[in-house]
Amino acid sequence: PLGHGFTRPHTDDRRPLLVGGGAGIAPLAILQDELERDGGPSPVVFLGFRDAIHAAGAALLRDAAVVTQDGSGFRQGLVTELLAEALDEDDSARVYTCGPAGMLEAVRALCAQRSVPAQLALESGMACGFGACYGCVVSTRGGGYVRLCVDGPVLDAELLERVDPHAGAPA
Ligand code: FES
Repeated sequence: PLGHGFTRPHTDDRRPLLVGGGAGIAPLAILQDELERDGGPSPVVFLGFRDAIHAAGAALLRDAAVVTQDGSGFRQGLVTELLAEALDEDDSARVYTCGPAGMLEAVRALCAQRSVPAQLALESGMACGFGACYGCVVSTRGGGYVRLCVDGPVLDAELLERVDPHAGAPA
């Protein structure tokens, strides 16, 4: 019941780019509905999976561009390649992302290079879930820590030096 999800600034004309991988696509399906209901620029959706069998959930999102690592069922590639192509065309965007830690780190680095704001949905084992045990911390830029159960699980990318390799959704 605690914590913070994706947030869209009220006066934002940046194009929302939703970038998901593996099981991490689930919250993006809800976010797509919310963004479309709220008006503003339509969200663009990029999804990546290891193969076609794991890509069945792509149907949860409308009009998604989908890639698979092995090329089965869809274009072969990484979802970050789709993101890079979109930012090459127009970097006036705001990125919302959820997926495996390696993908989150690649998205974070790409957005940092181009000064594109991004929000990352991280994941952690949680013992208490209300901020007491510090079992869910991730380190932040400058040497601090935040608790994902109350300060996250969605964090602004600029808070992080890099994504902890264990802080992502299953691939
Ligand atoms: Fe205990 Fe986050 S789960 S502080």
